Amino acid sequence: MIPAHIYNDPEIFELERDRLFSRAWSFVAHESEVPNAGDYVVRHVLEDSFIVSRTSTGEVRVMFNMCLHRGMQVCRAEMGNASHFRCPYHGWSYRNDGRLAGLPFHQEAYGGEEGFKRKGQRLLSPPRVSTYNGLIFVSLDQGAPDLEDYLGDFKFYLDYYSKQSSSGVEVKGPQRWRIKANWKIGAENFAGDMYHTPQTHTSIVEIGLFREPKAEKRKDGTTYWAGNGGGTTYKLPPGSIEERLRYVGYPDEMIDRMKETWTQQQKDVVGEDGFMVSAASIFPNLSFVHNWPKVEDSDEVVPFISIRQWRPISADETEVLSWFMVDKEAPEEFKQLSYKAYVMSFGSTGMFEQDDVENWVSLTSTAGGSMAKRLLLNSRMGVKSDDSPVSPALTKDEYSGPGKVHVGYGEYSQRAFLNEWADHLERPEPEATDTEVGSSD
Ligand code: FES
Ligand code: FE
Repeated sequence: MIPAHIYNDPEIFELERDRLFSRAWSFVAHESEVPNAGDYVVRHVLEDSFIVSRTSTGEVRVMFNMCLHRGMQVCRAEMGNASHFRCPYHGWSYRNDGRLAGLPFHQEAYGGEEGFKRKGQRLLSPPRVSTYNGLIFVSLDQGAPDLEDYLGDFKFYLDYYSKQSSSGVEVKGPQRWRIKANWKIGAENFAGDMYHTPQTHTSIVEIGLFREPKAEKRKDGTTYWAGNGGGTTYKLPPGSIEERLRYVGYPDEMIDRMKETWTQQQKDVVGEDGFMVSAASIFPNLSFVHNWPKVEDSDEVVPFISIRQWRPISADETEVLSWFMVDKEAPEEFKQLSYKAYVMSFGSTGMFEQDDVENWVSLTSTAGGSMAKRLLLNSRMGVKSDDSPVSPALTKDEYSGPGKVHVGYGEYSQRAFLNEWADHLERPEPEATDTEVGSSD
């Protein structure tokens, strides 16, 4: 049972800041957002601002966006290209790898190098930075597990979204908007809520924009939890892997590349078992969508992939960052159509988006009241699933992928998400490392 007030409680939000976001791996950017030397984007983990920059030697660096002098944000733009960042307050400047390059009146104010050595001074780095398939993550906890261990078996599913060819993906965006909703609701929804689709998104199904989901068909889909993430899959009509990927709308050349790139086990989930990933979330606040609506007047469907971050602003507000993601080697025409499919459904004005947010805002507002403190929400769907005919766990014969996988409606993934969340909140804060000054390396 879930206490209803966790979806709008400032005290819980404080705990999330201190015990969860100070420890978990948070997504900040994709490498393709900074393709050239000097490119940068600014991203956040809660209030902490980070510059993600491609240095002149070609490596990607993540730096805490706070001046070593008196703490002003060194970079005020959201993205751009720069060899240096100059602090707007007193004018200290830093190279795009974070090294302090110069400061005004060095001699007069500090007595030159003798009084204050510039060498070795650099913007702070987050304690841990790591990438998977070009997705850059940071952790504010030096003792965090390695990113690959953290992702665990979810990597298997992550590849369907972010590795459809050996060249990887590119992203476009992000679109950004704020919603008066708690960040957990969206992350949980994407992690496994198949149940809301026939109700919340009825109109989209009724106007025939999607071949699916029809309520009865979705019973064949799955919810799964693997490693530190989970999601849902659709059941595809019978056929070979090629036929199934064509049904989703992929052109043959992309299908060939997927077959070259995916492992046999990954191909088996699609080709043998007939399941295709749909929405998913990596704990705590990164989500994915894969869907295939009709675009324009055609009856053909076009698949798209989108990633999004639920950036917590407060207990009752979230900033959504939403990127379009596509295989780098996809044909140009496909990229354009796929982008259209994304904007229409899950962009800031997308049809799914509008339906979903209406619920989440309303839920958040009610969760902030007094009565919500007395209510334990029902989160029991599929609790007895292992021996229930309603939504049984799949055996290895029926399903080749890793994780706990169940057929049909169930709230396994949401419960796994919330268990993970509760574990974090019950653990003490991570050990603070010694206070660092802009350290040399
Ligand atoms: Fe940045 Fe003074 S705060 S130069
Ligand atoms: Fe939805």
